[in-house]
Amino acid sequence: MKGILLAGGAGSRLYPLSLVASKQLQPVYDKPMVYYPLTTLIEGGVREICLISTPHDLPRFRQLFGDGSQWGISFDYREQAKPEGIAQAFRIAASFIGKDPVALILGDNIFSGGDTFNRAFAEFQGGATIFGYRVHDPERYGVVEFDQAGRALSIEEKPKQPRSNYAVPGLYLYDNDVVAIARDLKPSPRGELEITDVNVEYLRRGTLRVQKLPRGFAWLDAGTSTSLHEASAYVQTIEKRQGIKVGCPEEAAFNHGFISLDGLRQLVGRLPGCEYRSYLESLL
Ligand code: DAU
Repeated sequence: MKGILLAGGAGSRLYPLSLVASKQLQPVYDKPMVYYPLTTLIEGGVREICLISTPHDLPRFRQLFGDGSQWGISFDYREQAKPEGIAQAFRIAASFIGKDPVALILGDNIFSGGDTFNRAFAEFQGGATIFGYRVHDPERYGVVEFDQAGRALSIEEKPKQPRSNYAVPGLYLYDNDVVAIARDLKPSPRGELEITDVNVEYLRRGTLRVQKLPRGFAWLDAGTSTSLHEASAYVQTIEKRQGIKVGCPEEAAFNHGFISLDGLRQLVGRLPGCEYRSYLESLL
């Protein structure tokens, strides 16, 4: 499966932080925000990744990740000239996706805990797989409604009167039909190509699977200064308590056999003396 990491948008809710760097490059505790969704993709076994961002910010991502070979993966960088909707990613990345299935992850979504995602990647066979996560403020998100048997009944984008407390987080697995579905989408009343409209189309076709994420699973929002700070505090707490890192691409790449022990050793050797290096040394 291929992967798209969508890291554009205006980031206006983080002003004036976003004057210094785009939202997805802001620090979340000890690493840039984009490390977290990138690690989620690597943990899912994705090796070919298309990173989409604004013309202004794309060079910074290129600088950060290079061609990806240090982690045994590859990056294809593409510009989104204007933030015209999340589903536009499939139009921008159509030639990258080719005939393959694809996972899309939003560059500001941070996940931690459990193996629901890894199993979903491993078991994906077609159609679409998305997730439902219980929140207290569903009106801020795509909202999925379930029937008694736990099957999805409806999905709505930011409904004023949500039909459930289940928000749809920013990780979506699709078969190749998504390319044609995105190509045929019409902009919503707010002028965006909505990811929710893609999911509604899969629901209409009867090929949408929505998996509820378990209680202990964490989906963190880092879109405002307050939630950014809270996400950092959460990551710090978990990392200190458990002595393991959240969102460490080197570790995920090693665990998946994308890089060898020797490759990891070489990577570590190139890092400056810092806590991050000490952590990777402890893995060696
Ligand atoms: O976080 C999950 C939610 O993400 C879903 O529940 C919603 O269904 C989905 O529409 C989306 O809602 P948001 O209001 O959070 O979307 P936002 O416009 O903030 O964009 C999410 C990220 O995607 C953000 O980091 C910027 C990036 N983005 C967004 C758009 C619209 C782009 O790179 N390009 C875009 O055109």
